[in-house]
Amino acid sequence: MDKEYILVSVAWPYANADIHQGNVTGSYLPADIYARYHRLRGNHVLMVSGSDSHGTPVTVRAEEMGKSVAEVFDYYHGRFLTLFQKLGLTYDLFTHTDTENHFKVSQDMFLSLLENEYMYPKVTKQMYSPTANKFLPDRYVEGTCPNCGYGTARGDQCDNCNTLFESAAELLNPRSRTDDSALELRDTEHFFIDLPAIAEDGLQAWLHSEDKAFWRPQVINFARNFVDEGLIGRAVTRDMDWGIPVPVEGYEHKVLYVWFEAVIGYLSASIEWAKNSGEPDAWKKWWQNPRARTAYFVGKDNIPFHAIFWPAQLFGSKGLYNEDPNAQLNLPYDVPANEFMNMEGQRISGSRNWGVWMLDALERHDPDPLRYYLTAVMPETRDSDWSWQGYVERNNSELVGNWGNLVNRVLNMTKRYFKGELPDPGELTDKDKNLLAAVDAGFETVAKLYDGCKFRAVVQENLRLSSLVNQYLEDTSPWTTAKTELQATARSLYTTIQAISGLKILWAPILPFTSQKLHELLGEDGQLFGEQMVQEYAESSRSHTALTYNGDTAVGQWTRTEIPVGRRLPKPKPLFKKLDAAVVEDELSRLGG
Ligand code: MF3
Ligand code: ZN
Repeated sequence: MDKEYILVSVAWPYANADIHQGNVTGSYLPADIYARYHRLRGNHVLMVSGSDSHGTPVTVRAEEMGKSVAEVFDYYHGRFLTLFQKLGLTYDLFTHTDTENHFKVSQDMFLSLLENEYMYPKVTKQMYSPTANKFLPDRYVEGTCPNCGYGTARGDQCDNCNTLFESAAELLNPRSRTDDSALELRDTEHFFIDLPAIAEDGLQAWLHSEDKAFWRPQVINFARNFVDEGLIGRAVTRDMDWGIPVPVEGYEHKVLYVWFEAVIGYLSASIEWAKNSGEPDAWKKWWQNPRARTAYFVGKDNIPFHAIFWPAQLFGSKGLYNEDPNAQLNLPYDVPANEFMNMEGQRISGSRNWGVWMLDALERHDPDPLRYYLTAVMPETRDSDWSWQGYVERNNSELVGNWGNLVNRVLNMTKRYFKGELPDPGELTDKDKNLLAAVDAGFETVAKLYDGCKFRAVVQENLRLSSLVNQYLEDTSPWTTAKTELQATARSLYTTIQAISGLKILWAPILPFTSQKLHELLGEDGQLFGEQMVQEYAESSRSHTALTYNGDTAVGQWTRTEIPVGRRLPKPKPLFKKLDAAVVEDELSRLGG
């Protein structure tokens, strides 16, 4: 079969806070699992994202920390790169939005929308602070939510009922979040994207097309309702100085709205990646090839931006980077948005120190157990909960008890009874063949689950398969036959080693580090996946650091390798550690305060 082109687009974290387990399980980890699965299949994967450097979330944080915006951004961006490397998130490029390339691509898309007459200027009223002498971004405004009455709703969104406000003017009793002073409405001119026109010219029909049947219901229902209720034009510029200047004469002191330009990052990062690869047009294989599939991994708060507004931008900018003025860049193939993860029954919160700060947790925990638990309780269909008790239990009973011990026992017995050499099984029985057939069948069923982003179900299916192997081991009891019928022991260990060789691949997208370790314990050469690197790039006016990935040397495969008779296996080592109950107490004591 022809190799597919798969674009893995991952939510861009604001460079204003450390990353917690909710962020990871919400979008970054599912994206990596999906990317790694497709890499193993030999598909052409391009996984892109970066730090979201602009917008008020970053400027507000800088004010809180008493630092410059650039300092804050640099600090968190650097920590993201370290975290993603340690956690094994295989971005082909994790860049950021403060690059010349991103400025240019964002401005180009803006101009394309303007030229296609999907953008118009309009005078609006905006909150103005007489004390600060400037217009205030919506996020700097606080007031009472007109929908639910919550007293400290932000001007862009109510954290209590999740209503998105068109403007902070909708709030009752608007005040400045900086100095609590009263605000007044004044006139200012902004550019608006003509969403009603775009809906009519294609967006609405696209959302209603039948090929969306496999989308998660919460995503497609939300998007269809939103558009069917009728869209209104949406402002895509702001009165701020941190950001990307509006590329129109007379508007240079205004910037593109962060949500308008951050999503353009998927395109600009693909272009940046192509430039760095020495093949500047290579990005088109994912963006202009109608058979390419583009998946967007985001949390549920991001659904409107990826299922409606970003597709609208793509529709409205037809002709961008193409000689054909009607050519369309690829629209999302899927937006497998996740719900939220809570922690020990409460909302994750930075200010209350209620969360698993991933970089910190990696000081005490290996990446695969963390990835395992985050996949096993991934909020795919509803909100889920992280509990340290659950982490320890599932590590011990499933990862160690079901999978790790199986590997350990089989390799140790091979060492004990056959000096670590894979024995000749003689003729395989039906029982042996059935076991291997079950594992081989897993390559089809598990593939469908990975491809459909049903990663919790992958965990269940892989555990079921490894239980089958455990059951086989109990039934054949090679430690008993060792005394009476060594040939039977040989057959059992040979068969289980082949089964493990298959499970190693089935687990690899979720457990890449331990699958690689097992790959080596089975005497196999090479790397299952490629290599992650932090790189420095220079542009004409600045330099920046990014995370990259090189998969050229990976021995990616989606089949079970037959380990040959007579192979000398290296000395066995356990894949996982059993965790003591004290871990729960220790971790809980770090919370809060
Ligand atoms: N930084 C924003 C967030 O974390 C946006 C993420 S996705 C983007 O919610 F594509 F819009 F950048
Ligand atoms: Zn509200």
